[in-house]
This record gives sequence, C-alpha cells and structure tokens, in this order.
Amino acid sequence: SEIAIGIHDLSIASTQYMLTHATLAAQNGANLGKYERGIGQRSMSMPALDEDIVTMAAAAAAPILQRHSADRIRTVVFATESAVDQAKAAGIHVHSLLGLPSATRVVELKQACYGGTAGLQFAVSLVHRDPAEQVLVIASDLSKYDLGSPGEATQGAAAVAMLVSAAPALVRVDEPSGLFTADVMDFWRPNYRTTALVDGRESISAYLQAVEGTWKDYTERGGRSLGEFSAFCYHQPFTKMAHKAHVHLLNYCGREVDTGAVDRAVGPTTAYNAVIGNSYTASMYLGLAALLDNADDLSNRTIGFLSYGSGAVAEFFAGTVTPGYRAHLRSAAHRAVISRRQEIDYARYRAIHEHAFPVDGGNYPVPRETTGPFRLAGLSGHKRIYELTS
Ligand code: CAA
Repeated sequence: SEIAIGIHDLSIASTQYMLTHATLAAQNGANLGKYERGIGQRSMSMPALDEDIVTMAAAAAAPILQRHSADRIRTVVFATESAVDQAKAAGIHVHSLLGLPSATRVVELKQACYGGTAGLQFAVSLVHRDPAEQVLVIASDLSKYDLGSPGEATQGAAAVAMLVSAAPALVRVDEPSGLFTADVMDFWRPNYRTTALVDGRESISAYLQAVEGTWKDYTERGGRSLGEFSAFCYHQPFTKMAHKAHVHLLNYCGREVDTGAVDRAVGPTTAYNAVIGNSYTASMYLGLAALLDNADDLSNRTIGFLSYGSGAVAEFFAGTVTPGYRAHLRSAAHRAVISRRQEIDYARYRAIHEHAFPVDGGNYPVPRETTGPFRLAGLSGHKRIYELTS
C-alpha cells in the first residue's frame, strides 16, 4: 500500500516486585549458570497483590495518552493469555481508568503469545481503512508455572502499549507477512488452571518449526532476503530462545552460523526480557523496545519480527525504522520500569505465587502494595474493582 502505517508510540510497564534467579537457584539447588547462561534469564518481574494485567496495561498506556490526544483513538485492542474474565474484555477496565471516549470499540484477543501481533496487524488494517484513526494496541501478561516445574524459571510479567497510526514516528509495518499455523499441544492452560502446562522440548521444537514455516511463506510472498535485515526481534519465552531461533533460521536458509553475528542480530533485543522474564504477548515488543532504546541509530533500517504463540500460530514480518525516531523514544522511562522494582525474598515470592481470591462472591479488599499509577482495590460480588493510586 502507498501509506506508511505502523507503531507511532510505544511504552512498557511491569510490576512492583522482582525475584532474582540467584534467589530461586539458592532455594531449589539449580546451578545459576543454567539460568543465566543456559536460558539467559537473570530475574523475573512479580506482581504485587494489587497488580494484574489491567493495572500493568493501564500503566503502559497512560504515558501514550499524556503525549497524544485520545481524539483519534476509536479502537482499543487488548491481547492477553492471562485473562481476568471469560466474557468482559480487560481493555474496558483500561478504557475506564484512562478516561477514553465512549465512541470507542474495545476487544480482547487471544492466541497465546501471538495475540499482540494479531492486535498490531488488525490495527494496521483499521488504520488503512481510515488513516485519520489511531488504534491503541495493548499486550499484557503474567506468566505463571507450577512451583518446582521447569517453566518456573521462565515466569515474568509486563505490558506493552502501542499507538498504531499512519505516518508512524517509530516503525512502519511492512508487507508481506509470512504465516504459519499447526495444531500442537506444546503449551496451554485449561480454564480450570491458574498455571500453564507445557511440554518443554515439544514447545521449543514447535517454535523452531514455526520459524521455518513463516519464513517459507514470507519468501514465497516476495519478502526481503535475509541480508536486508539489521536486527531480529523474536518472541522470547527466555532470551536464549531468540538465539536458538536465529541459528535455526540461518541453518534453514543454508547460511553459515557465526555466533558473533547471531549475537549482533538478536542480542540488543534481549536486554529487557532477561530481567523481566516471559511476558507472553508483550515479550516480542519488549524486545523491540530494548532494541530501539539501546542500539545505535537504526533509521531506515529493517527489523525482522518473529511472533510465536503456542498452539501454535506464528507470523514473520518486517518493520522499517522511521528516521528521527530517537526523539520519540521513552528509554529513560523504560529503564525506570525495570529499576523501580523491589527485590523480594523467596518467602514473599511463594506467598504471591500461592495467592488466590476466594470464589464465594464476598468482599475482599487487597492490601495497598503497588507504587504504580493504578491498582486492583479488591474483589466484591465477583467484580474486580480498579482504582487510581493517587
Ligand atoms: N551452565 C550453562 N548452561 C547450562 C547449565 C550450566 N550450568 N546447565 C544447563 N545449561 C543449559 C542446557 O544445556 C540447556 O541449553 P540448550 O537448550 O541450549 O541445550 C539450557 O541450559 C536449559 O537446560 P535444560 O534444557 O536442562 O532445562 P529444563 O529442561 O529444565 O528447562 C525449558 C528448559 C524446557 C525451556 C523450561 O524452562 C520450560 O519448560 N520453559 C517453559 C516453556 C517455554 O518457554 N518454551 C519455549 C517455547 S514455547 C513459547 O515460546 C511460548 C511461550 O512463551 C511459553
């Protein structure tokens, strides 16, 4: 298409607390090298009792609405796989907390970690229909696995909010996309469970199959060649996965694998995920935030995006960085999102992990813990009550 459409603004949020892998390793006897080098994770974000996907989402989106007026936003897309309700879209709570206009459509999207990319691509299509409109796309997730399971070290939490518009200040989303779907049970969470189930080895091989599948379709649709990309943002369930995925893509394309080149292509995208952990739908976009915030000038450069959601759906697409983008970044705020978190000990982590509301419809206020802008005040009559903290 003629008009450039893409990410006009991008803002991240995470949680009040953080657990280091050193603390986890000291507790469970694992070798810290396995966590820090083997999977590439140093710490993981943990929610306060009064934080959830809604409070993180609103915290991520609020700075965007401070910078841009809400007048042109007519759609809010909220992607998550840690939904707080089976019917009502979590985005409606965010719409309310942020005071967005009533003339807005709000919807929640789900397909594991791929949901954020579905939201971004749907947003691009909506803006294409009317380039005067903007779409607020939010991806927000808490990843939670059973205590003592292999997935435990890959927990985390974050939200990313993106304003999608014509003439984007940050990244234009390019055509074509390479698509791939395969029916696999690599990672899932039945409605009756709060923790995800995963077949670890199967999930890694399903992800790598999806890398091949999307690249094949991308190439057949006339996409760019490998050498045209300056960096690759992969979905990062743990940061080492981005390296594995890129090595796999190079092998698939018959290229020689040079570890230094792989590190240069994906390394700058891992800075935030290594200390935040898996944020599912937000993960790949935290990768983009880290890349834009920390890499040398990427103006006019092409970035490859590989979005993977277990189950499994994946999409590969290219984005072109807008000249002058650096003036629109939120690098200092993003670093503060990470540094403001308070380190917790193992006992506190256990208490957070085991926390669950009674399900009898009673009145359950939540202690005031978060110093973020929004909080979950409690549960009452089966309704979640949210409020501004100040
Ligand atoms: N020093 C350095 N490296 C070490 C080490 C040490 N002392 N000890 C072990 N390692 C390395 C291992 O060699 C291994 O590396 P390779 O995979 O490159 O061989 C790595 O550390 C991990 O070790 P294990 O394979 O033994 O670890 P594990 O079996 O306990 O768990 C996991 C790994 C399966 C990924 C597990 O963390 C898990 O189940 N995670 C959740 C599922 C997941 O994230 N899957 C990813 C694809 S699915 C997806 O992307 C969707 C999503 O978001 C969930």
